[in-house]
Amino acid sequence: MITIPGDRRNPSWLHKIKFVLDPIGYMESNYKQFGEIFHAPISGNYDPYIWVSHPQAFQKLFSTNPSYFDTVGSVYIKNFIGKDSVVAAEGKRHQRKRKLLLPPFHGEYLDNYGKSIILITNNAVKNLINNQLFLAHHLMQNITLEVILKVIFGVPEKPRIKQLKKAIIAWLEALNSPLISAAILVPSLQINLGSWSPWGKYSQSKQKIAEIIHEEIAERRQDNNDSYSDILSLLMNAKDEQREAMSDEELHDEILGLLFAGHETSAAGLTWAIYQLYKCSNVRKKLLQEIDTLGNNFEVKMIVNLPYLSAVCNETLRMYPPLPKTITRIANQSVNLMGYNLPMGTPVNGSIYLCHHREDLYPNPQEFRPERFLERKFSPYEFIPFGGGTRSCIGQALAILEMKLVLATILARYQLKLLENKTVKPKMRGTTLVPTGGVKMSFQGLR
Ligand code: HEM
Repeated sequence: MITIPGDRRNPSWLHKIKFVLDPIGYMESNYKQFGEIFHAPISGNYDPYIWVSHPQAFQKLFSTNPSYFDTVGSVYIKNFIGKDSVVAAEGKRHQRKRKLLLPPFHGEYLDNYGKSIILITNNAVKNLINNQLFLAHHLMQNITLEVILKVIFGVPEKPRIKQLKKAIIAWLEALNSPLISAAILVPSLQINLGSWSPWGKYSQSKQKIAEIIHEEIAERRQDNNDSYSDILSLLMNAKDEQREAMSDEELHDEILGLLFAGHETSAAGLTWAIYQLYKCSNVRKKLLQEIDTLGNNFEVKMIVNLPYLSAVCNETLRMYPPLPKTITRIANQSVNLMGYNLPMGTPVNGSIYLCHHREDLYPNPQEFRPERFLERKFSPYEFIPFGGGTRSCIGQALAILEMKLVLATILARYQLKLLENKTVKPKMRGTTLVPTGGVKMSFQGLR
């Protein structure tokens, strides 16, 4: 077999550190040195541990009939969220879980959330103080956490859900520490010295989240009230083909997984969008003109159909894909990829970031230019912020709805100012590509 090009001089832990500290630099330098397909072992001691970025490779990676790749739940996700969440599940169990989870994230269910998203955005922005500095990332995390709590539990204002919000913030704060990220993977680093030690704090917040979720499930089981229409209730009532419902443990892991997946990624996307809108005043002006055409018809159905707003969201997700790589795939047979024969069992990562920065697809890729999405239609292997195939993002429709409504509400109603003089660089927070420093802004009152 011909060896796949890549850096084999350094150990995998060094690759991992390089990726976490500078994900973009890491992917780009590998691409420049080794080309369309390279070996870069950021996890485990695999050789080869493949990365691809060409649409042809994505077509094969996402293909379901025939399927050349499976996915295994990552150890990180299993330890971080729980073995029973859809993201960690594999094979038939994974398919079963997707079938249960997909319906509430589509169509009529989502229509109900539009007004709540606008309300949550207005409440969050109104809490900002005139002329005071705030971090756009914090604002967006606050909004997206409220939204996902609303979607999952229906009643974010309930005291128990407010407590849950606090515990989730503490749990996710831990991701800022590289020590915690490492400890999630390495049990010997999990040293619990009480609430002042990083792992102690992390464990306590996770324990608190578990208690609250279990309390909520128990209360609902006792209530036996079928008037709830949120995702927790839908999941509690859902039955698979064998007429089996989810256990409490399964429900807990599923809810935690959705809270995590549905909050961090959307917050990152929104922060990048607001950053670019305030950096590129011509884009902001053009978008405002479009939003202003709505006049008194500032309604969910009208907002979501605005073409330039859609293009702005797409361009943001192109330039800064919140998940810069797909979930790792494993070849389930020997397969030819980009001219190389990969043996069964080879792990493959799709670099969403590199694909979205290809000159042949997106000329001058470092330029934020939403117009490219109005001039050309991209295939599902060229524009892939939500991945594809059997692992594609379950929350895609919700994420897009949220992005459009939050951005339109902020731009239409409020004035903000960007307080960053230098280009804001991306970094990894857990699995998500976030802006370093959180993007400093100030609130300038109503528009
Ligand atoms: C801008 C926001 C978001 C982005 C960019 C995003 C992106 C992604 C990507 C790239 C994947 C992996 C796909 C693959 O490997 O093929 C994924 C998976 C997933 N996403 Fe999202 N996501 C977003 C928001 C959400 C939301 C709002 C939810 C739910 C509430 C969600 C739930 C999930 C779940 C459950 C999976 C795992 C699916 C599986 O394992 O079958 N995501 N997402």
